[in-house]
Amino acid sequence: MYSNKIMEIFKSPTNAGAMRESDAIGTVYSSVCSDVMKFFIVVDADTKVITSAKFQVFGCVAAFAVGSITAKMMEGKTVDEVLEIQGEDILKEVGELPHEKVYLTDLAKQTIEDAIADYQRKQARLAKNTVE
Ligand code: FES
Repeated sequence: MYSNKIMEIFKSPTNAGAMRESDAIGTVYSSVCSDVMKFFIVVDADTKVITSAKFQVFGCVAAFAVGSITAKMMEGKTVDEVLEIQGEDILKEVGELPHEKVYLTDLAKQTIEDAIADYQRKQARLAKNTVE
């Protein structure tokens, strides 16, 4: 049912696991299935480049592979650049996905957006505290 690439990522994923000290966390619950995707990111304060990204997924093999690939795609990109990642870009990296699982790439995109929104909220709070 799954491609070799997806099975290989599932067996030895990159960027898996929670991060103790992240700058932001994004979490999205799927309304389609029961999958939950979570990204942790570390952002360089000066360059706004995501220096490290990790993922956690509660879901199926495909969700796990999509989480792993997306976290990897985020690393080395700026906060603005990751917001340009589209579901199709993620799908291109994943390769074949069963039709009913393609929505996972949108779930990953939404999770990126949630992580960046969390980052921006924290930055705004920090700026406010610095001014006061
Ligand atoms: S459990 Fe439905 S796509 Fe993962």
